[in-house]
Amino acid sequence: MARVADKIALVTGAASGIGRAAALALAHEGAHVIATDIDLDGAESVADEIRRTNRRAIALKHDVSREGEWRTAIDATVSEFGRLDVLVNNAGIGPSKPLLETSLEDWHGVMRINLDGVFLGVRMGVEAMRSLPSRPRQRPGSIVNLSSILGLVGMAETAAYSASKGGVRLLTKSTALECAEKGYDVRINSIHPGFTWTPMVQSAVKRMASAEADEEAIRTALTALHPLGRMGTADDIAAAVVYLASDESSFMTGAELVIDGGYSAR
Ligand SMILES: NC(=O)c1ccc[n+]([C@@H]2O[C@H](COP(=O)([O-])OP(=O)(O)OC[C@H]3O[C@@H](n4cnc5c(N)ncnc54)[C@H](O)[C@@H]3O)[C@@H](O)[C@H]2O)c1
Repeated sequence: MARVADKIALVTGAASGIGRAAALALAHEGAHVIATDIDLDGAESVADEIRRTNRRAIALKHDVSREGEWRTAIDATVSEFGRLDVLVNNAGIGPSKPLLETSLEDWHGVMRINLDGVFLGVRMGVEAMRSLPSRPRQRPGSIVNLSSILGLVGMAETAAYSASKGGVRLLTKSTALECAEKGYDVRINSIHPGFTWTPMVQSAVKRMASAEADEEAIRTALTALHPLGRMGTADDIAAAVVYLASDESSFMTGAELVIDGGYSAR
């Protein structure tokens, strides 16, 4: 039996890395997928790959920092598929900058995507998914928010990113409690990946390379932060997304799932 059979799942930032892997893994386990991203070509290629496996999928151009584009994405989902069961708030950016070089504009740029984007997704997702006496849910709803180990512990030169991911962690808990209290039948949980070998980390490694440390040396140093001796893969994180999206996790809400090879255990 497929683990998320016939659930309707919207994944943001689905063109690349963790979002792409999550969209494919959800489809593999029986979901129909709305793949959204600012990179429409990338989202289209994920939707094409899913349709080749006989699941339904559409791609949408969607900037998560824009309220109007959220409205359009949710409306398109409901008009195409009739409802929304799973929302994966994955889109994010991962710049790093020394504190003294971080302008207010830099700060707001990160917050707009990583925190405002998740807030808008949760608010509109809950609005679309909640169970009402007049409209009881056919399937329980699940929202999965991508935070980070940097939403749990700090790291130098990541002030804005860490603050945004810490915000996602507690936004998750507060909204999960509110949904439970109000009987909406929507669970909300966060995932906290360690360094995961995606285009985000690959380009960060390129940026950090210098005369003293080449890309290979930086990759080795980042790997060494993880007691299991490797960085994560997008599929490691996608497995957690499928679990939280599925009814296997039906007693989890407001929880934080840490998938970090032991990074934050010491
Ligand atoms: N890779 C890691 O090590 C790691 C670790 C912890 C948490 N995360 C989080 O996981 C999520 C995915 O990261 P990734 O490593 O797959 O990154 P990635 O850069 O490979 O993919 C991010 C995707 O988000 C899209 N995106 C960027 N801004 C957007 C916007 N405003 N609206 C919609 N889409 C937008 C990009 O086009 C891209 O397709 C992010 O929230 C990231 O912070 C990643």
